Amino acid sequence: KKVLFASSECVPFIKTGGLADVVGSLPKCFDKRYYDVRVILPKYSCMKQQWKDMMQYKTHFYMDFAGQSQYVGVLECVYDGVTFYFIDNEHYFTGDKPYTEHHWDIEKFMYFDRAVLSALPLLDFRPDVIHCHDWQTGLIPVYLHDSFAGGDFFRGIKTVMTIHNLKFQGNDGVEQFKRISGLSDYYFTIDKLRTGVDGNMLKGGLVYADAITTVSNTYAEEIKTQFYGEGLDGLMRARANDLRGIINGIDYVDYNPDTDKNIVVRYNYDNVLEKKIHNKRAIQAELGLAQDDNRFMIGIVSRLTDQKGFDLIAYMMERMCEQGIQFVVLGTGEQKYEDMFRWFAGKYPDRVSANIYYSEEMSHRIYASADAFLMPSLFEPCGLSQLMSLRYGTLPIVRETGGLRDTVQPFNQFERTGTGFSFANYNAHEMYNTVMFAKYIFDDRRDEWNGLIKSAMAQDFSWQASANKYQEMYDWLIG
Ligand code: ADP
Ligand code: GLC
Repeated sequence: KKVLFASSECVPFIKTGGLADVVGSLPKCFDKRYYDVRVILPKYSCMKQQWKDMMQYKTHFYMDFAGQSQYVGVLECVYDGVTFYFIDNEHYFTGDKPYTEHHWDIEKFMYFDRAVLSALPLLDFRPDVIHCHDWQTGLIPVYLHDSFAGGDFFRGIKTVMTIHNLKFQGNDGVEQFKRISGLSDYYFTIDKLRTGVDGNMLKGGLVYADAITTVSNTYAEEIKTQFYGEGLDGLMRARANDLRGIINGIDYVDYNPDTDKNIVVRYNYDNVLEKKIHNKRAIQAELGLAQDDNRFMIGIVSRLTDQKGFDLIAYMMERMCEQGIQFVVLGTGEQKYEDMFRWFAGKYPDRVSANIYYSEEMSHRIYASADAFLMPSLFEPCGLSQLMSLRYGTLPIVRETGGLRDTVQPFNQFERTGTGFSFANYNAHEMYNTVMFAKYIFDDRRDEWNGLIKSAMAQDFSWQASANKYQEMYDWLIG
């Protein structure tokens, strides 16, 4: 069975968030005897030369798009046993990051979606299923339904649309959308691609895909409600029978405290209670924080956006600092949150370290060093950072939403069970109380805290179980 993932990002080639982790790590985990899963991506000029050097030219052609004849190059490489294809076009995929200006991004990914289908007959790989990820690939099921459906080659190809984040939909004024996508009036009614005055790429994918998935069971339920539905909750309810939640995993080889080259002292389930502390000491020294094993240290590795609950943190930051908590923050995003952390780092240099940049290595060191990891998200389709934290024995403190609710078991002090701490309402005081409760367990009931570390590390969020669920879905689609 042949499956082609289409995505705008994928580790190790290009990453802005969890989408890249998923698309990069899941394809390796299918049963290779029965499933040939490949990935197609844009070739961005901002990709590291190391990756570009691996890509081999396969073919090229010209395609009519947005009133012009556009070059479509196709490159190929095999990495870690998986075949990757890249669509090359320097007009669209230039710049120092994959996403730039809104309208331009829409046009860029419309081009990508059309190019993917146009390139298919030249790949020597006719997928049974095209598995699309997020709004950037939303027009693939639509184009497949449209002109391409006529050709024998495309007949019977099934599509899956996976929602990693419903907030971003790729919408643009109908006239502009029509002109660039080349889709006819037929598609721009409210039961198809239209939302309000816009055409909407993700909606197109959600209407025309044969199956829809999202990245946790709770989020699959939440998006059928108005609060989380981002205007598409009606469509989610209408397609409820075709919508399922499949929880994400993480790469257990890349994220393994026992072999991780980024961290100072490696450790595992058996020796975590003796060895993990060396990483905390090292990061306190590296970042100039007070050297103290008993200071409760909270890690944050995140895009600094409203989605992640930073307004709650901003509201309580002063009080949490007054309690002596150490914060090690790594992230970039909205200016107000970058400035907020820098300000607190200036005010409390022994307690707060604001690292406003992107670094894979630093992220691993934080997952290994902190005592707890704070992620009070407003919404969270799955969340991978809390899974990485669990893997490193760093206890997540989360809000009970989406994948956070499905992956973190709150500490139950009567039964002494759990893998972290959580609270229900999007409320700064609730978050604060939960942080303080965690701190109390850390400070005064260390045995129980250590028990939680053990149960966190005993969890299994590798891909295997979820890869099986995707396989079942492909089987069901292909028949
Ligand atoms: P989202 O995809 O919504 O950003 P996830 O929790 O699914 O959230 O995935 C975030 C991924 O991005 C994780 O792998 C996390 O470690 C990584 N990440 C986020 N910010 C940074 C940063 N500044 N430096 C390094 N890695 C980061
Ligand atoms: C999105 C979501 C995040 C999820 C990731 C991978 O970026 O915000 O919750 O883990 O996609 O599916």
